[in-house]
Amino acid sequence: MRRFIVAAAIAAAMLASGSAMAQSPIVIKFSHVVANDTPKGKGALKFKELAEKYTNGKVKVEVYPNSTLYKDKEEIEALQLGSVQMLAPSTAKFAPLGAKEFEALDLPWLFKDDDTYAKAMKGPVGKWLFKKLEAKGITGLAYWDNGFHMVSANRPLLNPADFQGLKVRISGSKIADRYFRDMGAIPQIMAFSEVYQALQTGVVDSCENTPSNYYTQKFYEVQKDITVSYHAHLQYAVIVNSKFWSGLPADIRGQLEKAMDEATDYTNSIAKKENEDALAEIKKSGKSNLHYLTAAQKTAWQKAMQPTYKWAQGRVGKEVLDLLAKELNIQM
Ligand code: LMR
Repeated sequence: MRRFIVAAAIAAAMLASGSAMAQSPIVIKFSHVVANDTPKGKGALKFKELAEKYTNGKVKVEVYPNSTLYKDKEEIEALQLGSVQMLAPSTAKFAPLGAKEFEALDLPWLFKDDDTYAKAMKGPVGKWLFKKLEAKGITGLAYWDNGFHMVSANRPLLNPADFQGLKVRISGSKIADRYFRDMGAIPQIMAFSEVYQALQTGVVDSCENTPSNYYTQKFYEVQKDITVSYHAHLQYAVIVNSKFWSGLPADIRGQLEKAMDEATDYTNSIAKKENEDALAEIKKSGKSNLHYLTAAQKTAWQKAMQPTYKWAQGRVGKEVLDLLAKELNIQM
């Protein structure tokens, strides 16, 4: 009996540690918090399709969208414990992992457009950030794009003064916390799966997100006014449990890397259009008024949020800011 218990415990530990050898086919649980019909949702399904094809079914990818398996914070813990093998959280959620340098990417109006963002992440800063994860038992595989944030409420948000006292849901980044405070708002971290209800019941007044997330989570149904401000960028890092990844047979890992590279190109190529289509659908619904900032209003927002840049030095450190400044050819 004792021997049986010991054997069962070892088998459970092997599974929990994400040991690939213990299973046939090898199962990759890929958990995320957004809908299938978004850039990340489609990217995860594309990775599944390609990974299963290239490994001839030796790998099975189970995609769990919409927080069906874990919510934001739990999924990161689950990855470290080996209960899931792959995630693609927004980089705004990496501070609990001890990698707050990722939050530098949330600085307001840092990236001029999608192309500037994409080019920057292919440079040294993308690799430098991934190195920060290694000590945490996590390997970064790719960056996936999801465009720029809008911001909304049940009143038009056009001037910094409109933010006064507004309770805004943010996803986790202290940089977002800071720039909303600069505007006079009161930011609050909340799991993505709880946002719709929190907006509906008035627990928060406001949120920021990309058009594809507003559309698929129906935030536009409970926010009368959306400002298409595109004030900050939303990007994901596809990450795996390092023990699991390095424990894979080399040929399988190679096929999975190929699948990931192609799924990444695919995701990044559809992100812009997915968001444009989502914005068109929101407009068509007539449920929310879309507002666009005038040049003067945009300048006023930028000026109000400017202190965040100085503050960021103490939060994310100078090294990542210097890397970004160099890559983007800007002064910070
Ligand atoms: C959020 O929590 O607002 C987003 O980061 C969700 C996501 O993964 O796009």
